[in-house]
Amino acid sequence: MSNVKRLSIEDYDEIIRVWSISGLPYKPKGRDRKNMIAKEMENPNCAFFGLFESDKMIGVVIGNFDGRRGWVNRLAIDPDYRGKGLASLLIEYCEDFLRKQGAMVMCALIEDINYPSISAFQKAGYNCEHTIKYFAKRPSKEA
Ligand SMILES: CC(C)(COP(=O)(O)OP(=O)(O)OC[C@H]1O[C@@H](n2cnc3c(N)ncnc32)[C@H](O)[C@@H]1OP(=O)(O)O)[C@@H](O)C(=O)NCCC(=O)NCCS
Repeated sequence: MSNVKRLSIEDYDEIIRVWSISGLPYKPKGRDRKNMIAKEMENPNCAFFGLFESDKMIGVVIGNFDGRRGWVNRLAIDPDYRGKGLASLLIEYCEDFLRKQGAMVMCALIEDINYPSISAFQKAGYNCEHTIKYFAKRPSKEA
């Protein structure tokens, strides 16, 4: 039986473990450094959720409300537990949190080759807006 709980900085190592086995690139010298994650968690408009099977963390997601939109970020499910619709459970928790913060519109950035993620978000009711291109300004590759 899976359950979801809000995470704290105590869960940092497990979050990194789940991202790593899931193949999500993470930036240990940049925004995924422990002190940066701790700071992100202190932001009341941000929440990290973990999905657990007994005591084992098998999924992670971050919800961020930027004051205008709700963002579902860094969604990952342990490869041994994929294809069971568990991503949608985490997306739902995230959306619930984001709505409580005041978000009406929910968004996610997904690489166009990431079919599993595209499918998971489509099943959760998200539509791809093809006219938008993502622009980013980075101080370094590691940030
Ligand atoms: C994207 C991800 C979170 C989806 O999690 P999930 O719980 O497996 O989601 P679902 O069960 O809804 O399955 C989604 C799609 O994954 C694929 N899938 C199904 N079973 C699978 C399996 N055993 N192994 C891998 N992929 C599988 C299918 O394409 C499925 O789509 P379909 O249901 O239309 O056939 C997960 O694949 C993941 O962690 N990927 C790596 C990290 C990542 O890319 N995160 C998203 C960043 S935007």
